[in-house]
Amino acid sequence: MDTIVSLCKRRGYIFQSSEIYGGFASTWDYGPLGAELKNNVKAAWWRAVVQERDDIVGLDAAILMAPQVWVASGHVEQFTDPLVDCKQCKQRFRADQVGERCPACGGELTEARQFNMMFKTFVGPVEDDAAVAYLRPETAQGIFVNFANVQTTMRKKLPFGIAQIGKAFRNEITPGNFTFRTREFEQMEIEYFVKPGTDEEWHRRWIEDRFAWYTRFGMRRENLRLRQHEPDELAHYARSCYDVEYRFPMGWSELEGIANRTDYDLRQHTEFSHKDLSYFDPETEERYFPYVIEPSGGVDRTVLAFLIDAYHEEQVRQEKRVVLRLHPALAPIKVAVLPLLRNRPELVQVARDLAARLRPRMMTMYDDTASIGRLYRRQDEIGTPFCVTVDVDSLDDHQATVRERDSMAQVRLPIAEIPDYLVEQLRW
Ligand code: GAP
Repeated sequence: MDTIVSLCKRRGYIFQSSEIYGGFASTWDYGPLGAELKNNVKAAWWRAVVQERDDIVGLDAAILMAPQVWVASGHVEQFTDPLVDCKQCKQRFRADQVGERCPACGGELTEARQFNMMFKTFVGPVEDDAAVAYLRPETAQGIFVNFANVQTTMRKKLPFGIAQIGKAFRNEITPGNFTFRTREFEQMEIEYFVKPGTDEEWHRRWIEDRFAWYTRFGMRRENLRLRQHEPDELAHYARSCYDVEYRFPMGWSELEGIANRTDYDLRQHTEFSHKDLSYFDPETEERYFPYVIEPSGGVDRTVLAFLIDAYHEEQVRQEKRVVLRLHPALAPIKVAVLPLLRNRPELVQVARDLAARLRPRMMTMYDDTASIGRLYRRQDEIGTPFCVTVDVDSLDDHQATVRERDSMAQVRLPIAEIPDYLVEQLRW
């Protein structure tokens, strides 16, 4: 993990938040390359679950919602962790992670108390109980409260789903492991509504589908596994849940949970809002509450897992080569254009012209700040799938060398054909 953290900082993937003020506990900022990677991960997810399917539509709901939402959903009552305080040093711990004495000073611990993990804030100028609102701890509720809006405006019939990507906030007691567990994070969630009785079959299909998504984008099969939740781990709304886990440096840990939420949420919101969120089935002419299968993944964890999985060190001619074998769809920069000699203006001009032609079609980087060997190493380390080198011969034969990241194979192509060639190579 230290290697990845250091690469992320050195190369502009992820920085400590508020670093110039000494940082802010467990918060991270995505740098120029991290922002690209994160956008690409979200785009790959959106494309697989919204664009490539005709049974799922997207949504982008507000982070702040009516506080009653969180009463109805059960989060005010049940979204809690048991905590203990040390009577001596006053530090606070999760009860399930400590023994009888304080792990910091050996002092006596208090009885466990339930601590709600939702962040509270105040809406408007008066900071009283009536103005309390919560930062959403999951994006899912924005989908449930819009179930009828989406179903009627998009004329959807069961089974269908609603997908959403957005920030969620939890006042985690033990954040850590870099971006794995933080208090502010981003989720990619689908609520997939099905006829009761078909839920178990759909649950199975979604488990397979979501597992396959990670390998489609290059995550190694041997680093992924499925794990069923024990009854005592299940969230208050779930009947059963499977996690897709990744073999992180700290051990197997959850990337995504795929839960059967039954009709719990739609029933709760119907009861609390007095708006009927049941569904009229035109085929059977019955009215019922759909069951919900929920694949819910974390963007930040997925980004971290893709980075870890892509990281390779290899020996090339007595030298260590660090290469990020990111899937081309995820790589932040798709091509780097490198002039072999930076003190030859005509050569620099050809390279700059090519980069300008590539930019409207893909993320392109022009770099002439080091020797070609160093420039290649830099691009390998950030995972750029292709480098194009313009050399002295290019001035006469109007060709340039395209180098592929993983095989390091080189082909010489007419410069005019390079943009189409790369678009073709990068298609997914
Ligand atoms: N709506 C269901 C739900 O929120 P969850 O298992 O609590 O289920 C779903 O969260 C996903 O969100 C997790 O699999 C994880 O990837 C991500 N996630 C949850 N808490 C997180 C945290 N504190 N930091 C980073 N990601 C988190």
